[in-house]
Amino acid sequence: MNLNQLNLTGFKNYAEASFDFAPGINCLIGKNGSGKTNLLDAIYYLAFAKTAFNTTDAQNIHNGQSSMTSFGKFENDLVVACNYEKRKGKTLKVNGEEEKKISNHVGAIPIVMTTPDDTDIIRESSEYRKKFFDGAIAQMNHDYLKNLIDFNKLLKQRNEHLKKAEDPNQINHTLLDTYDAKMLPVAGRISAGRNDFLKTYIPFFEKSYASLHKTEEIPSIIFKSDVLSENFPNQFSDSRKRDILMQRTLIGPHRDQYDFLLNNEAIKKFGSQGQQKTFIIGLKLAEFDMLSDAKGKRPLLLLDDIFDKLDDDRIASMVKLLSAQKRFGQIFITDARRERSKTFFKKQSVNFIEIK
Ligand SMILES: Nc1ncnc2c1ncn2[C@@H]1O[C@H](COP(=O)(O)OP(=O)(O)O)[C@@H](O)[C@H]1O
Ligand SMILES: [Mg+2]
Repeated sequence: MNLNQLNLTGFKNYAEASFDFAPGINCLIGKNGSGKTNLLDAIYYLAFAKTAFNTTDAQNIHNGQSSMTSFGKFENDLVVACNYEKRKGKTLKVNGEEEKKISNHVGAIPIVMTTPDDTDIIRESSEYRKKFFDGAIAQMNHDYLKNLIDFNKLLKQRNEHLKKAEDPNQINHTLLDTYDAKMLPVAGRISAGRNDFLKTYIPFFEKSYASLHKTEEIPSIIFKSDVLSENFPNQFSDSRKRDILMQRTLIGPHRDQYDFLLNNEAIKKFGSQGQQKTFIIGLKLAEFDMLSDAKGKRPLLLLDDIFDKLDDDRIASMVKLLSAQKRFGQIFITDARRERSKTFFKKQSVNFIEIK
């Protein structure tokens, strides 16, 4: 999968900009705040029709303008445009035709992205791990994403009703019954989707981790979900009393958990910074390999500031890894330090792009 050209209008710090990319490694060089990460986010918009970060679409419109567009030309004449206008909302067009259901498009442009914030996947709550896996599964499984969207909508409505009631007598149990009847099967499909995904993903992960690290460390990923227990429908209805007291839905796939271990110890607590970083790169490489396999084409690889906080030896092995013939397709790397990237990539043919 190659992105040949990107045109931005009113996107974050870009009032108007156009970029041409090469098929292999593209290195985006520019000072802090010049818009390197924003450019990666614009590419992410073409795949997911949303930002990779915690901002709203409205916040991503260039100051003072009323709309933004990320427009990309891919190989094989594939053209994708994602537009957001303050009044009209979002539209996604693929080859000029509007795609009404964004979930149908996710996965068409497989992407793996890593940013400095990825340490949150290890250090923060299970929410972050769930978000990482949901993104990975969604790119391979349309139905999964549809189920997730449906479930989140129902969960929001159910929680709104639980919150609205000032005392338990105001609860409309018939309404909750309808929500529950709709939610249960979807919940089952989501947690089963997560569990099935991991069965295929874990071997990819073990392999990628071993390729990054030559010691006897054994990484593992444990998935825990109440939803998968046979008794879940009963637990869910039994939980209603507590849900009403707490004014939110206390069990379901939104409470599924992923734990990351290294030699059977929580990496969050006991892993060194280096081990945590290797774990994250292993997770992303495994996502890349599994997506490549599933799609029969190599995903775009977006690497935001990956050289930061690595010593020269580790940068050198990273450069070697990225330069491996045929493993990766098109890569986008950002770096604020021009000379560093120029030195490390001097033997490779790399398309350097200066961001101003
Ligand atoms: N909606 C927006 N309008 C204008 N500028 C924006 C908008 N959103 C972010 N920016 C600007 O983008 C810059 C950050 O760009 P970024 O891509 O993170 O830089 P870096 O090159 O360091 O990765 C900041 O200066 C910020 O003010
Ligand atoms: Mg940046």
